[in-house]
Amino acid sequence: MDVYLSARHVQKKYGETVALQDASLELCPGEILALLGPNGAGKTTLIKILATVLAKDAGQVEILGHDLDRHMQEIRHLFGYVGQDTERSAYARLTVVENLHFFGALRGMDKRQVDAQIEKLAAYFDFGENLAKQFVHLSGGQKQTVVIMRGLLHDPPIIYLDEPTKGLDPIIAKKIRAFLKRFVMQEGKSLLLTSHVLPEVDELADRVALIHRGTIPIVGTPDELKASVGATESVEIERATVPAATLQRIERLEPVLFVQERNHHWVSFGVDDAMAGAEAIIRVLREDNVRARFRHHTVSLEDAFVHHIGELAEKFDQ
Ligand SMILES: Nc1ncnc2c1ncn2[C@@H]1O[C@H](COP(=O)(O)OP(=O)(O)O)[C@@H](O)[C@H]1O
Ligand SMILES: [Mg+2]
Repeated sequence: MDVYLSARHVQKKYGETVALQDASLELCPGEILALLGPNGAGKTTLIKILATVLAKDAGQVEILGHDLDRHMQEIRHLFGYVGQDTERSAYARLTVVENLHFFGALRGMDKRQVDAQIEKLAAYFDFGENLAKQFVHLSGGQKQTVVIMRGLLHDPPIIYLDEPTKGLDPIIAKKIRAFLKRFVMQEGKSLLLTSHVLPEVDELADRVALIHRGTIPIVGTPDELKASVGATESVEIERATVPAATLQRIERLEPVLFVQERNHHWVSFGVDDAMAGAEAIIRVLREDNVRARFRHHTVSLEDAFVHHIGELAEKFDQ
């Protein structure tokens, strides 16, 4: 497997706080890799280190054959970085085009190159109508799009996005995800994004790296992570509506492959055949004369996450 970027055993402390304990990951050509983890897991710290904004304490990073510590200048051209401070990533009173020309000039691009790139990006992000507007007059989603365009201006092969849809309404967020996906696929870019929004990761990522307390214990495709749960369907019962003895009977049913505590309210039973599983469970409920609240869903990335990193999932905002 070709690798565009490899980070090995990266460590970082802020004073006494260990942000990255021992983080390793690889980004391959043409892939979208999501660094998925709860607040404080170390996502921003790792992406800032890869973007040379922050110095690591230990570990090695290589980007397209260049060592991060020794070839900082070469590496700066190989990636585009979009951090979280959208408001301060462009000049409020300049128009979108003026902003992009300013940042293009900083990178040593000539005007023609910048214009050509603006035209291309505006087409991908459906942004032509907003190019002449002042940054300050744009909506949150539009501002974020400008900052993403700024990060893509020099046409880098690798893109880092730190929570690209944070704070945006769900419809705009979905639109930006669709634009990004098309851009990355059609232009053959590699994208590393951080997120703690599971549906976002499921929609975008070719591979997911689970980050947990500054380590990356698990990497796989969304399907691999889901498959590792050990069942394809989940039947959930509201705990308060069912006596403990009935729950124990359900646990012992043949179609029930595993039991998982979703949270304080719901107990999840993994099954492979939703119909047969639900039927067996309902039979027990009938026999015990219990009217339970229950629901069913196909195993999701969230189930995989609960399975792998257990209690952490409760901290996720869904
Ligand atoms: N500038 C900083 N000073 C001190 N501690 C920090 C700083 N930035 C982050 N941390 C701490 O490092 C850990 C990882 O933070 P961060 O990389 O921002 O995680 P994430 O992006 O996954 O939410 C957290 O415990 C956080 O509180
Ligand atoms: Mg962060």
